[in-house]
Amino acid sequence: MRLSKAALAILISQCLNVFAAPSNQKDGHQNNKKTLDPYPGKPRLTFKRDGTFKLTVFSDLHFGENPWDWWGPEHDASSVALMGTVLADEKSDYVVLNGDLITGENTFRENSTTIIDQIVAPLNKAKVPFSSTHGNHDNQPNITHAEEIKREQKVSRFSYTRSAPKGVGGDFGPGNYWVPIYRNNKDKAPVLILWFFDSRGGFSPNPDSTRVPDWVDASVADWIVSETRDMEKAWGPAKSRAAVAFVHIPPHAIQAVQSTVTPEKNPGMNADILGSGSVQDSSAQNMDKPFWDALNSKVKNLHAVISGHDHGNEWCAREPTKDVIFCFDKHSGYGGYDSPGWGHGVRNLLFHTPDPKAGVETWIRLEAGETRARVILDKHYGK
Ligand SMILES: *[C@@H]1O[C@H](CO)[C@@H](O)[C@H](O)[C@H]1NC(C)=O
Ligand SMILES: *[C@@H]1O[C@H](CO)[C@@H](O)[C@H](O)[C@H]1NC(C)=O
Repeated sequence: MRLSKAALAILISQCLNVFAAPSNQKDGHQNNKKTLDPYPGKPRLTFKRDGTFKLTVFSDLHFGENPWDWWGPEHDASSVALMGTVLADEKSDYVVLNGDLITGENTFRENSTTIIDQIVAPLNKAKVPFSSTHGNHDNQPNITHAEEIKREQKVSRFSYTRSAPKGVGGDFGPGNYWVPIYRNNKDKAPVLILWFFDSRGGFSPNPDSTRVPDWVDASVADWIVSETRDMEKAWGPAKSRAAVAFVHIPPHAIQAVQSTVTPEKNPGMNADILGSGSVQDSSAQNMDKPFWDALNSKVKNLHAVISGHDHGNEWCAREPTKDVIFCFDKHSGYGGYDSPGWGHGVRNLLFHTPDPKAGVETWIRLEAGETRARVILDKHYGK
């Protein structure tokens, strides 16, 4: 058994908390509060001692393309190298894989999830905590979001990916969960919640495969309501916590935002015109509205909603009807559709302080280290 000093300290503090619990029972008020910890067996995630927290997003890695050909495996080797370079340079406190980890159309039933092992290897090597959302290419006849989640949990102790309770997320959309980030290890309440949502899409498994809806299911709206209520009960008012949300396919409302984007106001590449299939609910029937309404009304101090899916876009912009900032990721993988000059990289988010009201710095980092589109996400951004 290999435990870092930090992990050992956490274990000890957890044991002490167990023994300390009975004394809390004298305090009836405290005892009524529900404790809320979705990761009882894992190290708590915290801001650094200097009060900062850095998060790096890899998106649209598209591993596993044409394994019978030369170029697919070569792309995967390039994506692994990119991950290694970025992780070594950035020394991130948390990593998000924001969907389309695998191009499921090209996988074989007997070994489709083993591709996950290749993807998490650089993260395991860097010993960085991380979690994933899943995309339309992760639901295909020979692979599902649920299978990818199970495999990731099995092959990485650094994974914080979870599945929502049964009945939440709709068919083939299990990946709805949140991860708490604390200021200090022993704090009662977190200062930042990372929310992850499953926008589904793609196709159902097995040979009789049919199309899966491409939006976050309405059941997730009710779940957001109940989770945020539990958080308030356990930790106090929502205003004392900040949040960031990750979902692979952009919410439908983002399509209308693109026509308002300018290079001055919204730096970053804007090369992918959003059309059919580019945002959730491509049929435009308001199907992602329950999710979008619940997220924006219940989750307070929401710094940004962050999506991939459209590989040619990097901008952040304010969605005016909800007054919320939306950001695109950077296409990270050598797999997936591409265009000469787009390049590959990541989006970084740097929290300078745990203050939930403070702005968050974000920028695009390309593989070789070049950075661009550096902005501060705060109440003035994009207005
Ligand atoms: C799924 O996997 C099976 C078994 O390897 C293979 O024969 C089939 O072609 C795959 N299906 C698709 C749609 O890729
Ligand atoms: C999966 O199996 C197929 C054929 O059955 C093979 O071509 C491919 O290389 C295997 N992929 C992995 C990741 O093991």
